[in-house]
This record gives sequence, structure tokens and C-alpha cells, in this order.
Amino acid sequence: MHTLTCTTKIISKSTCKQKMSQFSVVLLIGLMMCGACSAQLSPTFYATSCPNVSSIVLGVVQQARQSDARLGAKIIRAHFHDCFVDGCDGSVLLDNDTANGIVTERTALPNLSLDVSAVADIKTALESVCPGVVSCADILALASQILVALDGGPTWQVPLGRRDSRTANLAGANANIPLASNGFTEVQRKFTVQGLDSTDLVALSGAHTFGKAQCVTFRNRLYNFSGDGNPDPTLDPTLLQSLRQSCPQNTGDSNLSDLDPTTPNGFDNNYFTNLQNNRGLLQSDQELFSTTGADTVAIVNRFAGSQTQFFDTFGDSMIKMGNISPLTGTNGEIRTTCNRIN
Ligand code: HEM
Repeated sequence: MHTLTCTTKIISKSTCKQKMSQFSVVLLIGLMMCGACSAQLSPTFYATSCPNVSSIVLGVVQQARQSDARLGAKIIRAHFHDCFVDGCDGSVLLDNDTANGIVTERTALPNLSLDVSAVADIKTALESVCPGVVSCADILALASQILVALDGGPTWQVPLGRRDSRTANLAGANANIPLASNGFTEVQRKFTVQGLDSTDLVALSGAHTFGKAQCVTFRNRLYNFSGDGNPDPTLDPTLLQSLRQSCPQNTGDSNLSDLDPTTPNGFDNNYFTNLQNNRGLLQSDQELFSTTGADTVAIVNRFAGSQTQFFDTFGDSMIKMGNISPLTGTNGEIRTTCNRIN
């Protein structure tokens, strides 16, 4: 750390004071930027300890997605649900473990349909080459990026170096993870709490460009939206008719529909043109565009008009989300098996 004093004879006292205040401003800006940049994570974190980490993860997920086209959707969703509960620390992966006082987060309502089974295969492959090195939290962050790219989406440099939690937080999972029925203000609040703004909210919701949702998560929009027996007026009538076929009024809770009915498996910006055409599947999706006066409307329009802008922002927002309160240094541990603490 530099120290400055005004005792030198070479410059006048007033010039020196001016320089000191300039220095303070630069220092302050530096500190403020560092607060937002999560300095300890780095894309090269495993450069010496596990240099092939990316190609090992790529190999496993390439194989796995041949039999599961939804793999990318499942993994990125798990990463999101991990990060929103006490930071990106792999807590969502822990199973019940009475001996260690762990109550799994996966019985929380938004987590009931999570499928994290592929993580074990990725971990096994990594343990055989770099034992005890790569965290489960980093596996979620890195596999998300690799799978998004494989599905046609953007690439970004994933900051790495997260460590894994030794605890889970079921109450936090129920409280922090947004529900489709939360309503725009509540969804926005849940993002703000995590340090994510409206641009992040819209960009990250763009992950609903692939994957599926169960009937139970949007049925109210089809039959009785406001308690008056009518469907959601912001749902396109043609889409309404087809969704009613796959999601009947009184049965079929777990029937699946595509989150992006236009290009269901590819990662692109059609999610945003869908919203412009009242073809968002979840209430939380459509409200980004249909909420009068919301600052998200212009952002939806921008991403609908430019896939490049969506892709660039998506990468930035994924990095921001991935930086939520990581465990680093000697905090937490590197789990040997992702579903239980060491
Ligand atoms: C903005 C608030 C959000 C809400 C309310 C929300 C809600 C939901 C719901 C209800 C489902 C269907 C789950 C089911 O049927 O069981 C879903 C699926 C999904 N969500 Fe979100 N989500 C949000 C944001 C995000 C974010 C930020 C991401 C990732 C960056 C994401 C990625 C996904 C993906 C990929 C799927 C499909 C998963 C699959 O096919 O298995 N979501 N989301």
C-alpha cells in the first residue's frame, strides 16, 4: 500500500494536497470496483492444479446430452438455484444427511423438479484426473457455460475458485428462489436482494429459451387467472388452446411444455420475441414485457431486436450471478462427492 505525505519540498503544499485528494478518489473507485468484481475468482484458477478441467467437463456433458436434450437447461437452472441461496456454494447438491445435520434444499417448492444427476458423473471424471481439486459449485458454473454454448448460445470466461459449503439452507431456498406466480415486483425484489438489476433479471430470464415447465407452474394462466374463471389476457389465444391440450384443468400436474414454444431446444433470442407476441409460458416471463411502466419492457425489446446484445449481456449477467457470495480461501471445502460433505 502506498502512503503519501506532504512533507516533500519538491512540490508545493497545495499541489501536494490536490494530488492526495486525486489519489484518494482513485483509491475509492478502485475499492468500489473491487467490491463488485469478486477478486478471488479467476478463469485461470485451475491452470496448474487441473489444467484440463474444461475439456473434462466438456467430454462428460457432450456424452450425457446425447441422451438428454434438456441437460443444459437442468444444469443452468441448478446453478441459479444454488447461487440464490447463500451464494454459489454447491449447497443445492447436498442430500439429506442426518448425522451431519443437513436437510436438503431440494425439498423446497421451487427445487422439487431439479435434476442434478449429471453432476455426479462430471465429478467422478474430474476426481480421477485431479482428485480433491475442483469444487462442485464450480462444476455447476462451468458446465452451465459449456452447455449453453453447445446449445447454440454465447460463450463467456467463467470465473472459478469457488469452494463448497458444509451446510444447506432449506428455509433460504423457499424464501429466495422466485416462483412463477410471485408477480413482477416480488421477482424483481428477489433479484435485487442478490445484487442483480433489471438488466440481469431480463437477460437471465432469457435462459427460458430452452427447457420445459410443468403444467402446475402455469395452469392458473389457462383457466382461472384472476379468480374470475378467465385465462390470463396476456396469453396469445392460439398458444392458450394448445397449452390447454397438454395441461388439462384438473389433471396432469407434471405434464411438460416448452418454455420457448418457437425454438424449444436451441439457445437464442426467440424467448424475447415470444414475450412481444404474448407467447411467454410463465407468468414471470410474460410480466417482464406486459407490466405497464416496467423498466424491463425496453430491455426485452432490445434483446428481441439483437441476439448479439442478448448474448453479450447474458454472459455478463451469468458472471455476476456466479459471483454471488462465493466461499474462497480456506472457507468451506472441496467436496469429494457432490451430494455429501467430506
Ligand atoms: C426470473 C425468475 C424465474 C422464475 C420465476 C423461474 C421459474 C421457473 C419455473 C417455474 C420453471 C419450471 C419448473 C418446473 O416445471 O418444475 C423454470 C424452469 C427453468 N428455469 Fe427458471 N425461473 C426464473 C429464472 C431463471 C433463471 C435466472 C435461470 C437461469 C439463468 C432459469 C433457468 C431455467 C431453465 C433452464 C428451466 C428449464 C429447466 C428444465 O428444463 O429442466 N430460470 N423456471
